[in-house]
Amino acid sequence: MISIKEKISLKAYNTFGIDVQAKYFCSVESVEQFSELFSSDLFKNEMRIFLGGGSNMLFTKDFKGLVIHNAIHGIEKYNETEETISLRVASGVPWHQFVLHCIKNNWGGVENLSLIPGTVGAAPIQNIGAYGVEVSEVIENVEAFELINGKKKSFSKDECRFNYRESTFKNDLKEKYFISSVTLRLSKINHKINIEYGAIKDTLSQLKITNTTIQTVSDAVIKIRREKLPDFSLIGNAGSFFKNPEVNQARFMKLKSDFPSMPYYPTANQQVKVPAGWLIERCGWKGKKINHVGVHPLQALVLVNYGGAKGEEIFELAMKIIQSVKEKFSVTLTPEVNIF
Ligand code: EPU
Repeated sequence: MISIKEKISLKAYNTFGIDVQAKYFCSVESVEQFSELFSSDLFKNEMRIFLGGGSNMLFTKDFKGLVIHNAIHGIEKYNETEETISLRVASGVPWHQFVLHCIKNNWGGVENLSLIPGTVGAAPIQNIGAYGVEVSEVIENVEAFELINGKKKSFSKDECRFNYRESTFKNDLKEKYFISSVTLRLSKINHKINIEYGAIKDTLSQLKITNTTIQTVSDAVIKIRREKLPDFSLIGNAGSFFKNPEVNQARFMKLKSDFPSMPYYPTANQQVKVPAGWLIERCGWKGKKINHVGVHPLQALVLVNYGGAKGEEIFELAMKIIQSVKEKFSVTLTPEVNIF
């Protein structure tokens, strides 16, 4: 039997550590429990949100509905050839736990995505990415329940409509499906080592590692993330708060002539991506602290809760940052985190 609790603090369930209350709360540990919940009146009548690791969420107020915490675990072999292995991974498995499992077994493809907080089920929603790799590169399909009728659907990679920090689950199908598992295809041999991202190369040479393996790439990524990004168990945060904006060629030429040192990355669609962290730093926000909240001193893209912050304080800070980046650069930042 699934147990539904009332008036539960969500402080331990969001990495910002914001202390808001859920009217109803339950932890789902299996697909069967999800089906049981699905047929309950509470599920039908209340507003609801699904929480994985709570690492991409900003709660600005109490949630007056049902919070469903995804605790469905399990990794199973789905298919295997001489060169690849496909794994069907339950959506509640913590992402980094899955990465470690792959590295231990010498399965390649997710090592650049080491130490990303959150769950496997959340990974396709925002197409998590880091150090030159996006999870969409290894996803084969995503299984999900349609929330209106409980029917199961398997989404092929194309149907997921992946893009930079985007997928169909964040756009046209937002809140319409509950992802139950993700199937990923990893390499068993001839791993495609990706160390093009400058910080990885630098770290490997600092560590004097010449023999790059998925293990050493993972170690380098973990080292970089630990040095740059705050540990949410010590300082509340949700990783990058904003997406890196893409600007058109005309705006890019103007920005580049006004700010020649601005880093940038061309994209496949003729747009140019500019790092939000760089823009925010140039507006003087890096390391700023306002009461309980602030902009991290080592990475301006990360907003932090120094303890006891209300969600609105983080939200207000984000709005001020958007405003000043708009005034200085005529570029509009959009949050990467989901705001409730
Ligand atoms: N930069 C600054 N100041 C800052 C931060 C960055 O000038 O405060 C400059 C850096 O010097 C560099 C450029 O901006 O030239 C890019 O910085 P970095 O390599 O740190 O990456 P990012 O664009 O800030 C993105 C992801 C991160 C991911 C890293 C590494 C987004 C929104 N963020 O950050 O993802 O770990 O690249 O691949 O795309 C996350 O999504 O939560 C996250 C941490």
